[in-house]
Amino acid sequence: MPVIRRLSALEILDSRGRPTVRATCELASGGVGTASVPSGASTGSAEALELRDGDPRRYRGLGCRTAIGHVNGELHAALRNRDFEDQAALDRTMIALDGTENKSRLGANALLAVSLAVARAVAVERGVPLYRHFADILEPGRAIAGLPRPTINLFSGGKHAGGQVPIQDVLVTAAAAATIDEAMATTFAVYQAAAELTYRRYGMRALTADEGGLAPAFPSIEAMLDDAVAAIRAAGYEPGRVVALCVDVAASHFFADGRYHLGGTPLDGAGMIDRLAGWLDRYPIVSVEDGLAENDWTHWPALRARLAGRALVLGDDLLTTNPARIRRAIETRAADALLLKVNQIGTLTEAAEACRLARGAGWHVTVSARSGETEDDWLADLAVGWGADQLKVGSITRSERLAKYNRLLAIEAETGWPVVAWPYEGTGDRGPGQEDDEIPVPGPLVSSRAACRRR
Ligand code: PGA
Ligand code: ZN
Repeated sequence: MPVIRRLSALEILDSRGRPTVRATCELASGGVGTASVPSGASTGSAEALELRDGDPRRYRGLGCRTAIGHVNGELHAALRNRDFEDQAALDRTMIALDGTENKSRLGANALLAVSLAVARAVAVERGVPLYRHFADILEPGRAIAGLPRPTINLFSGGKHAGGQVPIQDVLVTAAAAATIDEAMATTFAVYQAAAELTYRRYGMRALTADEGGLAPAFPSIEAMLDDAVAAIRAAGYEPGRVVALCVDVAASHFFADGRYHLGGTPLDGAGMIDRLAGWLDRYPIVSVEDGLAENDWTHWPALRARLAGRALVLGDDLLTTNPARIRRAIETRAADALLLKVNQIGTLTEAAEACRLARGAGWHVTVSARSGETEDDWLADLAVGWGADQLKVGSITRSERLAKYNRLLAIEAETGWPVVAWPYEGTGDRGPGQEDDEIPVPGPLVSSRAACRRR
């Protein structure tokens, strides 16, 4: 790997106006790379630590000057002029230097900013697109077969929208779109229909939540899902076949004393699984993220078994992109899809290990942004290079989200690669007891391995 001449960092502001870290790497040979790190709000408790200054007089304690100081000082001094074999050797050196379990000494924000800035500088030096360099970090020479299918935030609740409904996101995915261009145009139509519907129904203009989704005062979760289906229909699409729904339940955030507090009688794990399965019977849902709480390990295998073949059982807070947690979930058959957020673990190398583990188990991978984002677009390259099935970056509004979609459109224009197929085969089957004019439920998922092989 080329030798680093200088590492530096700057405190910048994210999409919520909170400080975050932007790092720059200058190589001895002249290549330069800059990268900014995002920040979550609905964080898993096993995530690596984002180092904040804690000074209440400045940004309510959220300043990143300490993390910036670590890049400019300790990391710069330790990493410059050294001969690292590859990205993994560099990242492992930073992990050892930090010396803590959760990167709390130097900060995962400092480490990830450096990890990404170095990768970008090396891609510049190699004269290859960033997605190509990311693919080689995952596996040297890895063939890229397609582009990830966007899953796009329509309605927000939970921690991203002041908690007006307990669950966090209802997303749409243009399940039949063959191109990113078509996926975006389809989603735009659904989003506009939803904005009109929320204005008529709730008297609410299209004000947006943290990730750009609409967030009217839905009277219930079911009303939120009904409105999503109504918006798909109003835009002229068939719910299920052409446009399907995904949900991020973010269940850890309404789990207390061993019960799920969704409104009404609190539910135990089995009750929560029944509730989720009920949504699948009624709505065209093809992916359920964090359907149970992050440490409810005893119930996750039953959730996976119950939803198998109908929707992805996607782990976010459950897994926190952490190889040890992913191994546990594979062994216990707790999930079948990984939500991959690089800043949950703090270096590219560890996130790549998480991705390889998930793939090795035949799981699907959704690469995801955070609710606090920047205008940086490296995430789109990561999703392409690592062969993600889906890309989740929030809604189709707000430039910190659009930066990623726009990069995906540019990659599509450059390469002509197709969008990877959604992992179910459209059979035209109806759900149990459904009449013809009811919502079609997507057909069975093809096995993850088969879907991987097909690409
Ligand atoms: P966060 O949440 O970025 O606010 O942590 C996003 C998600 O839960 O997927
Ligand atoms: Zn989530």
